[in-house]
Amino acid sequence: MSLKDKIDTERLPEHIAIIMDGNGRWARQRSRPRVFGHRHGVTSVRETAEAAAELGVKYLTLYAFSTENWSRPRAEVTALMKLLVQTIHKETKTLHDNNIRLLAVGNLENLPKVTLDELQDAIKETAHHDRMSMILALSYSSRWEITRAIQEMTKDAKQGKLDPDQVNENLISEYLTTKGIPDPELLIRTSGEYRISNFLLWQIAYAELYFTPKFWPDFRKEDLYEAIIDFQKRERRFGKTSEQIVK
Ligand code: IPE
Ligand code: IPE
Ligand code: MG
Repeated sequence: MSLKDKIDTERLPEHIAIIMDGNGRWARQRSRPRVFGHRHGVTSVRETAEAAAELGVKYLTLYAFSTENWSRPRAEVTALMKLLVQTIHKETKTLHDNNIRLLAVGNLENLPKVTLDELQDAIKETAHHDRMSMILALSYSSRWEITRAIQEMTKDAKQGKLDPDQVNENLISEYLTTKGIPDPELLIRTSGEYRISNFLLWQIAYAELYFTPKFWPDFRKEDLYEAIIDFQKRERRFGKTSEQIVK
């Protein structure tokens, strides 16, 4: 029985989020510059997106560049932005072939114009695809997103567009950049680090966390299958007791 066959497709996570980490260390192991690792990470993105779409996952969010990543050496940031343009351009075909819609969350205004243009073109070109949505988190951090949401809410309240008594969890979700996207049930982080690094703090309140020591450029379809199999073995209790969970 293959790994894929062990997955119960009736109980798939609807939304999987991934912190794609370890590109730099993967390159260092090969005595190559960090950007060599980023370049190889593209194959992992393609494989993972294909595997998720083939299984029937509806949303895949990939943490590609954080707010904090702007503080990396300028050459690395520039190389990453260039790689993004090339990748989005080249991989639009993969998105079409697999009926995948591209979306992006984050402070996109901070991206270089060429990167933003390429991204927006791909978002427009794939808007009709409906098998799966692939959401790139770019120039994203959760605290940035929550701060921005509070700014917008207070502005709307001041202008009489929002009644403070109406504020509840659903309304807060509506003000986040992930508006309309269900919360991830499964969060994967590669590279053996056990932290969240400012990713989707609100949205992962009840996500199952899965950590793998593999570096992102080594991540393949089988690794996604393993994470999902692990997820399916867990009992999600949401604060209740085991006995209360109807099997
Ligand atoms: C993840 O790999 C990619 C980005 C954050 C852009 P890293 O570049 O963080 O690689 P490591 O963690 O230094 O190995
Ligand atoms: C998290 O990885 C951000 C992305 C994967 C885009 P980092 O490598 O930036 O995280 P830290 O600095 O190790 O927490
Ligand atoms: Mg890292």
